[in-house]
Amino acid sequence: MEVKTIYLDNSATTKPLKEVMQAFMVVNEQYYANPASIHAMGVEANNLLMRAREQVADILQTEAKNVLFTSGGTESNNTAILGLAHSNTHKGKHIITTEIEHPSVLESVKQLEKEGFEVEYLPVDQNGVISLDDLRAKVRKDTILVSIMHVNNEMGAIQPIFEAAKIIHNMSRAAFHVDAVQSFGKLPLAFNHEDGPDCISISGHKIHGFKGSGVLAFRTHMKWQPYALGGGQEYGLRSGTVAVPQAVALSKAARIAVESRVDQEKKYRKWHDEICLQLREYGEAVHILSTPQGAAHILSFSIRDLKGEVIINAMQKRQVIVSTSSACSSKQTKTSHVVEALKLDEHFKKGVIRLSFGAYLSDEDIAKFKDVLNEVLMELKGEHIQ
Ligand SMILES: Cc1ncc(COP(=O)(O)O)c(C=O)c1O
Repeated sequence: MEVKTIYLDNSATTKPLKEVMQAFMVVNEQYYANPASIHAMGVEANNLLMRAREQVADILQTEAKNVLFTSGGTESNNTAILGLAHSNTHKGKHIITTEIEHPSVLESVKQLEKEGFEVEYLPVDQNGVISLDDLRAKVRKDTILVSIMHVNNEMGAIQPIFEAAKIIHNMSRAAFHVDAVQSFGKLPLAFNHEDGPDCISISGHKIHGFKGSGVLAFRTHMKWQPYALGGGQEYGLRSGTVAVPQAVALSKAARIAVESRVDQEKKYRKWHDEICLQLREYGEAVHILSTPQGAAHILSFSIRDLKGEVIINAMQKRQVIVSTSSACSSKQTKTSHVVEALKLDEHFKKGVIRLSFGAYLSDEDIAKFKDVLNEVLMELKGEHIQ
């Protein structure tokens, strides 16, 4: 009998849902025309695209014209940060972000630093959360952009983005960008708060949609100098033939994620708590990076003086897939910038393991995972765990 693989790396990417794959296939097979074409087939494709845009806009409580389809979280982050910085230099050149952003944010602001922008990085406490006082101290009249992620991809810390928005909007004319790649569909997020983000990034493949699909959405319409030049698609902000099947698939995945959010979160929180309880049995040999205040779908922990790969391999032999703290840094040997920012004890830096839950997991899978976790930790006991 084939043993089922238990996939616990949903923050790296998710398996698309069947309904999402079906929608993608139908659009590819029947509505493959270019949505910019004026013939009937083009009009039909464009209608589907507009419906997908309206659906995402409804979820985010903004207007359809404020939703741009992109190739994913990286492009959304790059576009927001570079675009908003370059088009606001008349107001200033000061930017604020955090030490624990995804590389697609950090590399964008590094590029801006090379161009003469001044970038300040907010540190985080041991729970991975910024201080609002630090933010207040850094926001200036010439601050043009603040970019703060909603949920950290390596350990699940949730940033106080609505409180941050109040500070930013009261003290400056800065645009507030939020990387919501790990929070969209997991936490409530929309432009319906009086104060909140001005602009957010979403990725399709983190919500059981497709890789290579994303959204950049705005509270109100924004203009900037576009990078993808050409036919003027996506309101002139991102040229290139729009990938209608990806857009339709993303809107479907987004709708399902938002509709099932409360139920999924309940399950994830229960699993999170149960696994933490089990890990605590190992006392000081285990350090749990994630906190009960963090996102329910991400649980990171580290075993004293143990390399993450040892656990990953031992789990993999038993058909359980977990990852090191982030997919981007998992192939690199250096400690991740998030782990550095958390100022983790040296003994726990090498072995951060991230479990991330998704819609395909069941209670039975988590029960099996917990057995495997015990087996693996017992095996390593003595050798690695005192
Ligand atoms: C917080 C965060 N931002 C951005 C990205 C990049 O998204 P994409 O893979 O769609 O480019 C990721 C992906 O891991 C992420 O976790």
